[in-house]
Amino acid sequence: MRWDYTRSGNPTREYLEKEIAYLEDGDAGFVFSSGLAAISTVFSIFDRDDHIIIGDSVYGGTYRLLNDYFTKHGLSFTTVDTRDLDAIKAAIQPNTRAIYFETLSNPLLKVTSVKKVSALAKEHGLLTIVDNTFLTPYLQQPLNLGAHIVIHSATKYLGGHSDVLAGLVVTKTPALSQQVGYLQNALGPTLAPEAANLVRRGIETLSLRMAREQQNALAIAEHLEASPLISSAHYPGLKRDPNFR
Ligand SMILES: Cc1ncc(COP(=O)(O)O)c(C=O)c1O
Repeated sequence: MRWDYTRSGNPTREYLEKEIAYLEDGDAGFVFSSGLAAISTVFSIFDRDDHIIIGDSVYGGTYRLLNDYFTKHGLSFTTVDTRDLDAIKAAIQPNTRAIYFETLSNPLLKVTSVKKVSALAKEHGLLTIVDNTFLTPYLQQPLNLGAHIVIHSATKYLGGHSDVLAGLVVTKTPALSQQVGYLQNALGPTLAPEAANLVRRGIETLSLRMAREQQNALAIAEHLEASPLISSAHYPGLKRDPNFR
């Protein structure tokens, strides 16, 4: 039976999984109980002694999870500024399996080129795994730029109402979908259907909210940049920001 047990499958959760897979243009989507649950599950695809390169300004909770928890289970990490391709190249070891970064980092809002890093990763046979929480598929679809796995804390823009904690993963290939799907059921960090429905509801207004959010963020950033009380404002929409796009 397809929906005989909710951890293994549920129609409301499946709706959201198909929706995020469609929005990110991937092979399959997976729903988790938080962004960190999604990240933990994705890093569980690796084996003892695997090495992963991670961005130097990822969310602190991600850094804690990788460096405190996954290192105890045999993974190793090198932290680099992923905007610098030479720094990435220098960090590659014989046991490196993946490069992980946030497309727009939390909290410094550094912008890493998914296209350039994915091309480098491909040359070296590595996976490119990105956290696309701050951009959302409304602003960037990393799988179409060469990434293999996209992760979201849906607690932020996708949920949109600060009333739900959730994580999402989208995979590019059936082989990765099989691995993540297996772990979603085997580890059990998936999301209750009621919460999945709240994320589905949030996505209905994503485009309107993201457009307004950018207008508001730029106005706040310009105000802070002009203030004599502020030494530096980080926002890639500011012309003077080194990450300006
Ligand atoms: C970029 C990013 N990824 C992941 C997370 C973790 O998500 P959650 O709080 O839903 O576990 C956060 C939380 O702040 C975040 O900012």
